[in-house]
Amino acid sequence: MSLQEAFEKTKKELTVTPEKLNEITNHFVSELNKGLSKTGGNIPMIPGWVLSYPTGDETGEYLAIDLGGTNLRVVRVTLLGNSKFTYESEKYAIPGPMRTGKSEDLWNFIADSLDDFVKIQYGSAKLNSKLPLGFTFSYPASQNAINEGILQRWTKGFDIENVEGHDVVPLLQKAIDSKNTPVEVVALINDTTGTLVASKYCDPSTIMGLIFGTGCNGAYYDICKDIPKLEGKLPNDILNDDSPMAINCEYGAFDNEWAVLPRTKYDIQIDNESPRPGQQYYEKMIAGYYLGEVLRLILLDYYSQNLIFKNQDIKPLQVPFAMDTSFPSRIEEHSATFVEKLFLDSFNIKTTEEERNIIHDLCLLIGTRSARLSVCGVAAICKKRNYTSGHCASDGSVFNKYPHFKERAHEALNDIFQWNTDPKDYPITLIHAEDGSGVGAAVIACLTEKRLLANKSVGTIDSKL
Ligand code: BGC
Repeated sequence: MSLQEAFEKTKKELTVTPEKLNEITNHFVSELNKGLSKTGGNIPMIPGWVLSYPTGDETGEYLAIDLGGTNLRVVRVTLLGNSKFTYESEKYAIPGPMRTGKSEDLWNFIADSLDDFVKIQYGSAKLNSKLPLGFTFSYPASQNAINEGILQRWTKGFDIENVEGHDVVPLLQKAIDSKNTPVEVVALINDTTGTLVASKYCDPSTIMGLIFGTGCNGAYYDICKDIPKLEGKLPNDILNDDSPMAINCEYGAFDNEWAVLPRTKYDIQIDNESPRPGQQYYEKMIAGYYLGEVLRLILLDYYSQNLIFKNQDIKPLQVPFAMDTSFPSRIEEHSATFVEKLFLDSFNIKTTEEERNIIHDLCLLIGTRSARLSVCGVAAICKKRNYTSGHCASDGSVFNKYPHFKERAHEALNDIFQWNTDPKDYPITLIHAEDGSGVGAAVIACLTEKRLLANKSVGTIDSKL
């Protein structure tokens, strides 16, 4: 087989046809419903206990922290009402080994960073009460109340012992208290829920919050009494008022039983070699943590067949995750000539013109597949909730940085919904989100405080709140 023939074969495997998009989306709808049913399914569909829609009139001052993949962000947000806000924030780089280190080290690192931030922001000012904080924790965490989050499993390469199965709020609160920092964690928030609420605070036509980043996920508002798995668990005040409920879908776990996704041998290898095989099948095909790895595995496969980088030592490329997503993203952004310098500088590998063109085209295929598969979750939520128009607030490195992601995603949505109008008139669009982990966390903390002041519940019958 020639390199060109191998590429043609890969191209076929990575291409997602409109028919396949429809098949995946239809299966997705039934999986979303299954996740809300009493028996449950692959997709966790976690009720996030945000029980009202923001109006834009919320006011107050809140702290927020966002534990992302590479940074911890601490934010002081002032909600001014009238859909306006101001904020100040600081980033603290998460030391690499901490992703797979000890639980106490993680909580102490967060508490130390928060303490540092509070000292900078408030100096020696005497505070009358503890500062309310919204904790954006972007991993699947079950919630029986707004201030609880029992980690189901780590994703995105995190693997810290003794956290799965535990409520992360008391773990963090204990570390905060040990530093005598005057802060109380009042809400635990997924980044998608934060994105949904922050964007809705500013734009009432927001219908969902989406992250296309290191991981992938979406959140939307359902109605409490339409969620079978909450039957018998809802306090009367929630049941009686037709309350909305933000759902953190955790749809990165879609199709873990592999019924419809067109997985390639590269996707299967990524899964097998990951800390949690058998989990997050969908996410592992489309999210930023994995896109560079897909490219690397394809190239290694070609190399093993003596089709590419002939007679060269490619050791640096044989290191797992040697290419992060900025590789395919930058390669697509520039032309094939950029590949020459990139491969020489990063891996000491020389490339021929044919190789460079093929690497460039592979990046195009990987990015296109990611965008097309990514919108199946979006389309499924629209179908489930009968949304025929609205804004899907979107954030994350893939959405913000991967070339053409948005156009490709819109094209795929059109393949599913067949609007057949000019792209600028598509009724459902992905738009750049407001700052979910800062503003979203603040708005959610504010909505929670309001409910508690009005003696309304923010959790199940059994929860303490
Ligand atoms: C996590 C989600 C998160 C998403 C985007 C996934 O790996 O499970 O909780 O929303 O990444 O950050």
